[in-house]
Amino acid sequence: MDSILVKGGGALNGQIPIAGAKNACLTLMPAALLSEEPLTLTNAPRLSDIKTMTELLQSLGAEITALQEGQVQAMSGYGVNNTHADYEIVRKMRASNLVLGPLLARFGQAEVSLPGGCAIGARPMDLHIHGLEAMGAEIELRDGYLHAKVPGGLKGAEIELGFASVGATENIVMAATLAKGTTVLKNAAREPEIVDLCDCLRRMGAEIEGDGSPTIVIQGVDRLHGATHPVVTDRIELGTYMLAPAICGGEVELLGGRIGLVEAFCEKLDAAGISVTETDKGLKVARKNGRVKAVDVTTEPFPGFPTDLQAQMMALLCTAEGTSVLEEKIFENRFMHAPELTRMGAQIEVHGGTATVHGVERLKGAPVMATDLRASVSLILAGLAAEGETLVNRVYHLDRGYEQVVRKLSGVGAQIERIKS
Ligand code: EPZ
Repeated sequence: MDSILVKGGGALNGQIPIAGAKNACLTLMPAALLSEEPLTLTNAPRLSDIKTMTELLQSLGAEITALQEGQVQAMSGYGVNNTHADYEIVRKMRASNLVLGPLLARFGQAEVSLPGGCAIGARPMDLHIHGLEAMGAEIELRDGYLHAKVPGGLKGAEIELGFASVGATENIVMAATLAKGTTVLKNAAREPEIVDLCDCLRRMGAEIEGDGSPTIVIQGVDRLHGATHPVVTDRIELGTYMLAPAICGGEVELLGGRIGLVEAFCEKLDAAGISVTETDKGLKVARKNGRVKAVDVTTEPFPGFPTDLQAQMMALLCTAEGTSVLEEKIFENRFMHAPELTRMGAQIEVHGGTATVHGVERLKGAPVMATDLRASVSLILAGLAAEGETLVNRVYHLDRGYEQVVRKLSGVGAQIERIKS
């Protein structure tokens, strides 16, 4: 397993290009199953999770061609002849469950392995099932698989989600595009990736309104046609790299960044003493005068503070002046980066879903272990500002969601290298 060696150093200056959003691409790719005509995605990120989704869709019979080194994914759902999403693939990536809605909508049946838990939580699918059953699907859990069928075809329904689940919203919206009649989805997730999915589905001929608000209305149509769609900028990669100059000093421009993608995050950065300026190319970020100030953070569904930036924000607050309280309200076990940061001299007390961080002047480099995707990059951020060397192990987690980390950070002056195992 590869590692990444980071040498704590001075300020970072320059530009970092931000890629297309992993979490948009992982729902846009299954949308190709909804049509017999090809769907082409541009600005696709080159990540191992995208390769896993490609493998899954190909196992169902879809044809996928990665063009321009994977930045373009040309997909055809025409040849799909299998509706069994196997555990061997699904267990590697929870987002595999996003083929459930499209398979039910286009083929009236699906066998999708339950993803099983992951490091950050149990990750159940009760909200997905509730919504699809409301549309007429019969779904039975047997031998670790969801066996779903809807002999007479999906029908539009009024559905209210108990929690604004991103994945459940995506599965239900995709299924509803081909259902008979109108579906009203209440307490829907509002993330930019949901809006991007709906933009793509509208390009394919779907009739959808209200995405980005708590209520989405979908008018079912008989069929969807092919389209070409640019994947939206990755707001989590954006927020992650905004923290590099915040934690090290200097000024970095994040190409492709827009304030609208990270509004709640920017409010917290402003309170912490970090300046963010929108330019015609992206976002310029710099630390204002003096030390970062402590701020409290609570993760919430969009437009609240994103859970996927909690670990990275904690790395910044480890060196802030004062005490910060972070509340993780989305996942039950998303503080695994805390003990690793403690190894670097951070002072963090974790009680259930609350972490209290007492800022220290400077962290000290140490060997640490990546435990999940966002934790891995928070350790790299900490290492950039720490005294001495930090060796981050198990960086395969990183490859799931961040392309070219070493190149992007080296490009702004970081002393970072990948060590092949
Ligand atoms: C998406 O996961 C993202 N993944 C996650 O990003 C992100 O953290 C999460 O949304 C929240 O923003 C992708 O888009 C591929 P949820 P998802 O359904 O859809 C509970 C990353 O780092 N829940 O909104 O699985 C669930 O257990 C990943 O890129 C139910 O109880 O998130 C969790 O506690 C990590 N029942 C909470 O809701 C359900 O049926 C949020 O889950 C579904 C979810």
